[in-house]
Amino acid sequence: MNRLTAIDGISRSEVLVLGSGTAGLTAALGCAPLRVTVLTKVREGSGGSSPWAQGGIAAAVGKDDAPALHAADTLAAGAGLNDPRAVELLTAEGPQRVKALLALGAHFDLDDSGALALGREAAHSRRRILHSRDATGAEIVRTLVAAVHHAPEVRRVDGAFAIDLVLDGGQVVGAVAVHAGGRRVLHLAPAVVLATGGLGHLYLHTTNPPEATGDGLAMAARAGARLVDLEFVQFHPTALAAGADPMPLLTEALRGEGALLIDDTGRRFMTTEHRDAELAPRDVVARALWSRLMAGHRAFLDSRAAVGEEFPEHFPTVFRLCQEHGLDPRTEPIPVAPAAHYHMGGIAVDDRGRTSLAGLWACGEVTATGVHGANRLASNSLLEALVFGARVAEDLRAGLPAARAPRSLRTAGGPAADVAAAGDAELIAAVRRLMWEKVGVVRDGAGLTAALSELDRLAARHPQASGEARNLLGVGRLVAAAALARRESRGGHYRSDYPAPDPAWQHRLFLTAAPDGSPRFEDAAAETTPSLAVSGSRGR
Ligand code: SIN
Repeated sequence: MNRLTAIDGISRSEVLVLGSGTAGLTAALGCAPLRVTVLTKVREGSGGSSPWAQGGIAAAVGKDDAPALHAADTLAAGAGLNDPRAVELLTAEGPQRVKALLALGAHFDLDDSGALALGREAAHSRRRILHSRDATGAEIVRTLVAAVHHAPEVRRVDGAFAIDLVLDGGQVVGAVAVHAGGRRVLHLAPAVVLATGGLGHLYLHTTNPPEATGDGLAMAARAGARLVDLEFVQFHPTALAAGADPMPLLTEALRGEGALLIDDTGRRFMTTEHRDAELAPRDVVARALWSRLMAGHRAFLDSRAAVGEEFPEHFPTVFRLCQEHGLDPRTEPIPVAPAAHYHMGGIAVDDRGRTSLAGLWACGEVTATGVHGANRLASNSLLEALVFGARVAEDLRAGLPAARAPRSLRTAGGPAADVAAAGDAELIAAVRRLMWEKVGVVRDGAGLTAALSELDRLAARHPQASGEARNLLGVGRLVAAAALARRESRGGHYRSDYPAPDPAWQHRLFLTAAPDGSPRFEDAAAETTPSLAVSGSRGR
C-alpha cells in the first residue's frame, strides 16, 4: 500500500460507482435517495460492452417457460461450477427485472399478437431471449441513461479514468481518478461499487469495445480482494473475420434462426461435432472453428437460406457491420473466427454483490457471482447485470458503512500511476498477442508456462507501465496462472494436455494477488503447481 499523494481535488458522495454499463447504471439508479457519483472512462455516451450486446436478455417470461427451466439450462452450460443459489436468484428475479426495465421505457420486439417476441440461442431449451432487433444492449443502455438523466441524486462524470481504489485501515473508502484534462481527483465514499466490465482487450482478437481492459479487476486485485474463476474466458465462435479490431460480432441469434457454419469447401461441419450442431454450447462451437482455422481452412456463417432477404430488417446492426466490410450476408457466406467475448471469472461476490473487502461492492462482468460457472449461457450476462446491479443497490439502501474521518489513506497501486506512460502501447500489443497465442481457445501447460515467463519479462522491461497497460499486464498474469493451475478441461477452459473434465477439479479456484502481483490460490493443489514460481517483482 502506498500513501496518497499528488491530488488536485476531492469529491464526496455516499456511493461511488465505477462504470456506466448495464450493471453500473442499474446499481446507481437503484440507490436513490443516496447521493451517487458514477465515473466512466469513456468521454461520450455510455461505455463498456453493454451497448454492443446484440443478442438479448434471457428471462423465463414465455408461457412454456419457468425459472427452474432457465436455471437448469444455466447449470448445464456452467459444467458443474455454478453456484446454484446464485443461479436460482438470477432466474427467479430475472422476469421482475425485465418488467422494471419495460416500466422505464425499454422497447423490445413484439410478435404479431403484441406479446414479447422471444428468440432462441444455443443451449437454451426454450425460446426466452428478449431482443430489440440485434441492438438489445444499446436499447437497455439508452433506457438506463435516460432514467439517470432524470435522477437528481445521480451525478455522472465522463472521461474519468479510475486508477486505484483508496483504502483506510483495510476498508475501501474511495478511488483516485484522472479526469479529462489530467486533474487527479480523490473520490471519497463509504461505499464503492465496481461495475467496470470485462477484459476482452487482454486478447488480440475480441468482440469487446476498446475500453474492456480489466481495469476494475486489476484494481480489486491490487487492493487484495478475493477473486475467482479467472481461467474461464468465453470465446464467441462467430466474430466477423475481416481484419478489424475489435472484431464485429455476428450474433448467435443468427444460428438460432437457422444460419449454418460451413468450411471453405462448403461443407457444414458442426453436425459431426455435436448433436445440437450450430446450437451446441458456445465453447464447443468455438473450438470446432478454431481447429479448422488451425488446420489452414476458413470458416463461414451462411445465413442465405435461413434469413436471406430479411437480413436488413431483422439484423440491421450485423447487416451494417457486414456492409462496412464489403460483405452481403443475403448473398454470400460471411467469414468468421472465434474471439474473446466474455470473462466468467472476476471479483468474488456474495448474493448482494459484497466483495471480501469492507466498503467494496461489485456487479456485472467484473464479478464472478457464480451464475455462469465454467461457461456462460448466451444472453445471461445482461440479465446478471440487471439482477445483481439491483441487489447491490438494495443492500446499499439498507445501510451504508459508517462514514468516518479519514485517518491514513492509501492506494494499492502506487503514487506514480498515470494514464499513459511511454511504452504502454507496445506493452499492450505484446500482452494481447501473447494471451491470444498461449492463453486462448486451446491452452496447454507448456504454452501457459511460457506465457507466464514472458509476462514476467514484459513486466521487468516496463516497470513504469500505467493505466490500461498496467491493468492488462496484471490481470493477464492472474488469468494465465489460473489457467495453468486448473489441470483439466471444463467449459470455456480447454487444455489440450488435460482434454477431459476431472471430478477432482470440480470446484472453483479462489485466489488473491500478493503485493508483487503473483497469485495466492486458496486451493493447495493449485498452489503447488511447480511452474507457477515467478521471478522478479511486479509491484510498484
Ligand atoms: C450474441 O449475440 O451472440 C451474444 C450474446 C451473448 O453473448 O450473450
